[in-house]
Amino acid sequence: MTDSQNEQGDDRTADVVILGAGPAGLVLGNILLANGIDCVVLERAERTHVQQRARAGFLAAHTVRILERHGLAAGLHRRGQTHDTCEFRTQDGRFQLTYSALGQGEPHTVYPQQDLVCDLLTHYQEAGGRISFATEAVAVLDAHSHRPVVTARKADGRSSRWQARYVAGCDGRHGAARRALPPATVRHRLDHQVSWLGLLAEAPPSLDAVGYAVHHRGFAGHMARTSTITRYYLQCDRGTPAQSWSEERIWDELDLRMGAKAYGPLQRGAILERSVVDLESDVIEPLRHGALFLAGDAAALISPSAAKGANLAVLEAEILAQALTDDLLHGVGEGLDAYSPRCLTHIWRAQEFSRWMIGLLHSPPGNDSQASFLNSLQRSRLSSLRTSRSQQDWFATHYVGL
Ligand code: APR
Repeated sequence: MTDSQNEQGDDRTADVVILGAGPAGLVLGNILLANGIDCVVLERAERTHVQQRARAGFLAAHTVRILERHGLAAGLHRRGQTHDTCEFRTQDGRFQLTYSALGQGEPHTVYPQQDLVCDLLTHYQEAGGRISFATEAVAVLDAHSHRPVVTARKADGRSSRWQARYVAGCDGRHGAARRALPPATVRHRLDHQVSWLGLLAEAPPSLDAVGYAVHHRGFAGHMARTSTITRYYLQCDRGTPAQSWSEERIWDELDLRMGAKAYGPLQRGAILERSVVDLESDVIEPLRHGALFLAGDAAALISPSAAKGANLAVLEAEILAQALTDDLLHGVGEGLDAYSPRCLTHIWRAQEFSRWMIGLLHSPPGNDSQASFLNSLQRSRLSSLRTSRSQQDWFATHYVGL
């Protein structure tokens, strides 16, 4: 079905109106459609923007199993790469952990998120799924009634109203779903006081591992994306303008923090994209308000330090799809009642591990006695990870699990 056919569709009703065509919204849409549930996806951005937006890329094995279960994994099996090793570079030397062989660890599949989104979109539309691009959800009204309404606005200014039985807010942290929450909703929020310059480089990976460098000048990270593209992170001062570092300075700093002198230089290339990310986390509680359900970044924002965001989004989408299907097809609403507590358990576990990773990877600022104490704790944490098998098992289990 083409976009224009979608637009001409006479109805402005759907059993489930899904806000946002990221991993959460598209996994949800695909499963609902396969289960015979009438749904529509409203997406603020143009199709090309959604298909090209480079984001995360590490899919945990449980995420791959969810996608396989619903026939959504063909592309990642064809083009994804298996990854199962982390390398830590520290002032005390380097060490590798092959996490697939430790604890309950399993390999990741490295598959750029925009490729996954393209696969999900193609699958959804080939199955006849309705989606409206360049359509911003403006408000969710009457969320506590049996007929909630979503008001939306096209990029050209035309507005529309969608009547639903349920609304799935998969529209990220600044979307309409969060704006519709009652004032009493709890938003737990933590600023990790750390910023990263996130870089996408046109350069092959330089390590066969995810590289984490812990350096007194700040953290540096290396994450493969494809055979020609690598993501790097450099810890930077809060407020640093993304453009203020020249490409040469970026590569010199990466070489320095990643110990290129000792371990070999990084393969350099053009910096294709850059942005400064302030590491922040938040969690909305509860994730249900009447007929409105939150999933993905709309439900909880997680710092990228442990690559949990997209994995949580896919897990929540599957749980929500099952619960909506049980209710709409069989009149069984227990799954919807359990959705929020069930997902919050996974979310808080992921937040806890992600926070632990931040403590592992970043030196506290300053050189007073408190900073030096925290520095020594960090060194001790790294040393346990290097030498203690039980700590390595714990790490592997949480690094890949939720
Ligand atoms: N109306 C319609 N669409 C909207 C609106 C709105 N008001 N606001 C935002 N959107 C769209 C965005 O354009 C985007 O395509 O919602 C989509 C949200 O998608 P993502 O940001 O990819 O979020 P999600 O599906 O929750 O995926 C979560 O992926 O990259 C990781 O770390 C990232 O944790 C994140 C995870």
